[in-house]
Amino acid sequence: LILVLDFGGQYNQLIARRVRELNVYSEMVPYNTPLEEIKAKKPKGIIFSGGPASVYAANAPKVDKEIFELGIPILGICYGMQLIAHLLGGEVKRAEKREYGKAMVEVRQENLLFKGLAQTQQCWMSHGDFISGVPEGFVACAYTEDTPYAAFAHQEKKLYGVQFHPEVKHTHYGMEILKNFVFNICQCHGQWSMGSFIDEQVERIRRQVGDKKVLCALSGGVDSSVAAVLVHKAIGDRLTCVYVDHGFMRKGESEQVKATFSGKFHMNLVFVNARDRFLSKIAGISDPETKRKIIGNEFIRTFEDEAKKLGKMDFLVQGTLYSDVIESGTGTAATIKSHHNVGGLPEDMEFQLIEPLRLLFKDEVRKVGRELGLPEEIVTRQPFPGPGLAIRIIGEITEEKLNILREADAIVLDEIRKAGLYEFIWQSFAVLPSIKSVGVMGDERTYAYPIVLRAVTSDDAMTADWARLPYELLEKISNRIVNEVPQVNRVVYDITSKPPATIEWE
Ligand code: XMP
Repeated sequence: LILVLDFGGQYNQLIARRVRELNVYSEMVPYNTPLEEIKAKKPKGIIFSGGPASVYAANAPKVDKEIFELGIPILGICYGMQLIAHLLGGEVKRAEKREYGKAMVEVRQENLLFKGLAQTQQCWMSHGDFISGVPEGFVACAYTEDTPYAAFAHQEKKLYGVQFHPEVKHTHYGMEILKNFVFNICQCHGQWSMGSFIDEQVERIRRQVGDKKVLCALSGGVDSSVAAVLVHKAIGDRLTCVYVDHGFMRKGESEQVKATFSGKFHMNLVFVNARDRFLSKIAGISDPETKRKIIGNEFIRTFEDEAKKLGKMDFLVQGTLYSDVIESGTGTAATIKSHHNVGGLPEDMEFQLIEPLRLLFKDEVRKVGRELGLPEEIVTRQPFPGPGLAIRIIGEITEEKLNILREADAIVLDEIRKAGLYEFIWQSFAVLPSIKSVGVMGDERTYAYPIVLRAVTSDDAMTADWARLPYELLEKISNRIVNEVPQVNRVVYDITSKPPATIEWE
């Protein structure tokens, strides 16, 4: 284990992730984790992350100096390096000019951290303070034009620091430096894999749950699916999954959930057909926010009703990922984010949370899913909003419109998949605006709905760009929709990015 102490920097979780890429298990804990807890984890190495503070600020995050006496190798990155310098008697000053971006680093002295690497290296810097004097026993290993100590080391005590960020790709030898730290300095073996992650989580979940009962709200999305299967692997039938079909799912989606979880994995699945319940509540409503609220509330009620029938449940599984943890900004996942399961789960339901994926990035979760045997369609699934097709029908929702949209949407996904683009596109789907336009088919005048095609690329849904789909593909999709879905006579492509538009239409 390589333990990363989190001092609040923006790239921090990347550090743990890079170490995991080296097949060494790594996790991140808050900087103020008690020393006893740190020792109990028996890490082979510790990394102090970067962070936005200045070491000399009044409430700067610090660590107990005793940590340097544990004999465990430590690597400080950026703020982490400055903290080592500061605590051990070196000097940290405010720089006249902030060093931000790419910088060329000269490696001054062959040492374990830079072993076998080039003398001149491009690195990524992002700091306002710099180390102007090193503590006793430390030697400078690298410098840049602006920074006399771009890296330092106290080889006997196995304390190292780099002012730049080895975890970001712009640092060309970043991985090599981490490799040197992890393998040569910390003596890790590199035998960890996603398989071992699964084994460890299974162990943990078993210990945590004991003989109690666990509930999971399954949506069919990647995160909740992987979390559910992982927990099932650990405790089998003591897990019950509840899947609420609110009637706004896409074509074949609910059937697939049934086939996968009840069928393939033999899990306890409570499949709730609440289509009529939702449709009657939503009838006649066209305001987007009202729709969302109704669906959110109704989802909670439906879920509660089912949970009550199951008797006392002690734990709730959440497919929280690291990015959700960051976004919620709490550092603890006590708050269930509202977008997780349509409007969030009730606050007054008392559960302890099981969040086996909270240290992972999305693509790591996909790897876990594959390893667990989940079908590719689920593992690679594009995000789908909780309220589903209800926010892709603009205006009032009717069963007829749902059917039209479902058919059109299935064609979009089918063609995108056939073109081999599904996994490269963040989301691709059809939208049904409640307007009609005139067309001509055969000798007949038509008056029917248009379908809006929406396809975007994105990294995190915060911003998105409309996908430059090939004309041939657009043509194919348009032809198929107009020919195969009788109530549609026109297809348009949404060529707006986010911002100013959003990904969804409502
Ligand atoms: P927008 O439309 O705001 O969407 O650009 C950003 C991302 O969030 C998804 N989305 C939702 N997901 N419940 C969800 O679980 C919701 O109510 C919801 N609204 C939007 C959307 O699909 C996109 O990925």
